[in-house]
Amino acid sequence: MKNKIRTLALLSFAILIGICIFKCTTKKAVENAQKEIIGNSEENYKEFCASCHGEKIEAFINRDVWVYGADRESMFKIIKFGKDDIGMPGYAEALNDSEVYEVVDYILSAIENKKSREFSSGENDDITFVSEGMKLKLELISEVADSPWGITQSKNGVLFFTDKQGLLFSKKEKESAIKINGVPEVRFKGQGGLMDVKLHPDFENNKRIYLTYSKPHPSNNNLSTTAVYSGILNNNSIQNGKDIFIAQPYVDTYRHYGSRMIFDNDGYLFLAIGERGRRDDYPQKLDNHLGKILRLNDDGTIPADNPFYHQENAKKEIYSYGHRNPQGLCYDAENNKIYDNEHGPRGGDEINLIQAGKNYGWPVITYGINYVGTKITDLTHKEGMEQPEHYWVPSIAVCGMDFVSSNKYPKWKGDILSGSLKFDYINRNDLSASGEFLKEEKLFPTIGRLRSISQCSDGYIYFGVENPGKIYKVVPVE
Ligand code: HEC
Repeated sequence: MKNKIRTLALLSFAILIGICIFKCTTKKAVENAQKEIIGNSEENYKEFCASCHGEKIEAFINRDVWVYGADRESMFKIIKFGKDDIGMPGYAEALNDSEVYEVVDYILSAIENKKSREFSSGENDDITFVSEGMKLKLELISEVADSPWGITQSKNGVLFFTDKQGLLFSKKEKESAIKINGVPEVRFKGQGGLMDVKLHPDFENNKRIYLTYSKPHPSNNNLSTTAVYSGILNNNSIQNGKDIFIAQPYVDTYRHYGSRMIFDNDGYLFLAIGERGRRDDYPQKLDNHLGKILRLNDDGTIPADNPFYHQENAKKEIYSYGHRNPQGLCYDAENNKIYDNEHGPRGGDEINLIQAGKNYGWPVITYGINYVGTKITDLTHKEGMEQPEHYWVPSIAVCGMDFVSSNKYPKWKGDILSGSLKFDYINRNDLSASGEFLKEEKLFPTIGRLRSISQCSDGYIYFGVENPGKIYKVVPVE
């Protein structure tokens, strides 16, 4: 009897300890599993999503409206199947269903975290930064609701800037911004909207202004293209405005519009057009304007010395081809050199020196791969195709660009600045006097999604970030 009781007591003790050990280890296992899920989903986000939505999940979720739904099932659907027309790829191939759900939960928990945290606005408004011994301060110039896509300035110091949703503003120093009327109707969707703004080289006399925008097709609502609109600025309104150029053909996607403009020393207007996400259809063929740099006269007519002017079935406006999505165009006036920067797919963002008649190779050669991880091509070089002056792997998601010639920043003279949408900084490529690319520097890290950069006529560099939309001036301090 005594023995029986002892055995029973021992047995129950052992069971109790067993339960305890089991509970502890399963709790640990659950915790570890949770950590792993968050770890994997964060890694997957960084690998598959950051190239477009930004490295930091906080930047991606910093939006008021989720157009396709902020619930678990809607997000699952758009991530798994994608939405080709807005440029959101589907991940059915690269991620299994539970991995997609894990990314969804990662996004949803970041949204929850955001609600409990006041998202800072204005914390960057008094940033200083030291580069090559120059101390620089950022001055907040203006804010916009969406994205400050293009920035320029007249010789008498009036700043002009666009807001991608379809608004154009002018701003005199110390005064508040004024909305300009007479802007064309834009297709504000995906990557489209009101984009670049430039003034005619003789704007002081002729008041001519140029805008690029995504133009809806006049009769088919699914189609849009990149167009240049130009008119005369009078009383805060664009008058006698018309499209001086419309890229052909119209396409049913909402991405890769390109659309930066520059004027060279001879007054030619150069225009960068993206391939609209149709890499196999357009960039290598000369019978269309997509995936090209174009050269026009200031009224939209075509210079007869363009490289393909006399070639049958080629668009006469083409200056160079084989481009993907140029998001920056800049001009070294002293050496008469034009550069573009353009997005690679995943990896392979490039800076190219743009020369008449040259083929820049997309999508035959590239340093990038498809967003879902599959290969586009093994080739990075091919005869008859140009190599970039510089490329980034992984991509920094370049946007905005200018060449520094101003005496305000003596240590940056002759360098190229490019924005990084993904990593929230300005990239400086240090160039030698003969134009070789030397080192790089990251300026103003964490400042925001860089959209536009302009060295303006007052000699200062201005740049625009989005989410929230702000324009800053880079001011050297003594
Ligand atoms: C090639 C660029 C690209 C990549 C890569 C990409 N997206 Fe998108 N995604 C877009 C675009 C463009 C939109 C539409 C504009 C927007 O909402 O930012 C979009 C929209 C979305 C939306 C809907 C937003 C809304 O308003 O409802 C979600 C959710 C989303 N993406 C999640 C992801 C996730 C998760 C990944 C990675 C697995 C990813 N995206 C990768 C381009 C991309």
